[in-house]
Amino acid sequence: MVCDIMSEGYGYGKVILFGEHFVVYGIPAIASALSGKTIAKVEGSDKFELVDNRPETPGYKEKKKEQQGDSLRRILEFLKIDVEKNPIRITLSGDLVAASGVGASAASCAAIARAINEHFKLGLDDEGINKVAYEGEKGYHGIPSGIDNTAATYGGIILFTKGDPPKIERISMKTPIEIVEGNTGITSDTKTVVEDVARKKEENPQEFEEIFKRAKEITEEAKEALINADAEKIGRLMDENQELLRRIGVSCDELETLIKIGKDNGALGAKLTGTGRGGLMVSLTPGKELQERVANAMKENGFMAFRNNIG
Ligand code: PMV
Repeated sequence: MVCDIMSEGYGYGKVILFGEHFVVYGIPAIASALSGKTIAKVEGSDKFELVDNRPETPGYKEKKKEQQGDSLRRILEFLKIDVEKNPIRITLSGDLVAASGVGASAASCAAIARAINEHFKLGLDDEGINKVAYEGEKGYHGIPSGIDNTAATYGGIILFTKGDPPKIERISMKTPIEIVEGNTGITSDTKTVVEDVARKKEENPQEFEEIFKRAKEITEEAKEALINADAEKIGRLMDENQELLRRIGVSCDELETLIKIGKDNGALGAKLTGTGRGGLMVSLTPGKELQERVANAMKENGFMAFRNNIG
């Protein structure tokens, strides 16, 4: 039964604070939702179409077009929606800039899942929406850990451990802390980078075992530091996490330049976030003044910078 009115859904952007890549191997990771959202609108139409009006890093949408089509097909198949019989127009918009590292794909999957759920009166709760968004993420990631869609669906700060079902623990911070995300402008491919890491792990099992052990400890220590809003400690742990990410080969010159700009201008910690080899980095910049200084320094060096809060 299709209703005539337009249905709407949302999904949050996210920043992975600790544990990207390691999360794929069952190490707990921490992500925070951002205030930026993707909105999906669904309405009946005479043909099936997707209109993508999201703001973007130049080239992002074109590069992800094929994966977006695959993702949408998976969502519709999972929900058993036949768009031949029930043609719909899906329109994406919102203030989340589509770029590698902000969870743009997961935010759009959660938004589409919610809008379709409303339009076709499927009666899914958040857990159901998260499952649909995970199916959609497969179109972009291959086998995603599930952290992105979980952050996109639920919002807030989450401690996430991969599994079926995944373990999701909410973290509340005493006070929010300002961050600046620097954008390399490079769109990286999650599937390729995750596969490269898997190859490297196979070649260096002992080194990876040691790296994974420390990654797990970092997440555990970070959880306490976040609860206490201990910015010095969170920053130190971010730097250490970045060192592990360098060792597994997912950083790049542009990310390192942004990390250096952040640190040189007073950020307490700085690391890449998400896939790496491009995309975004995150720096911890408590207080509006420091946040402004770091964001301006990134811009002066020709990078896009986004101001946000965690918690
Ligand atoms: O680049 P993003 O924001 O989509 O994050 C990818 C995170 C990885 O840990 C690299 C992959 C995953 O499935 O968790």
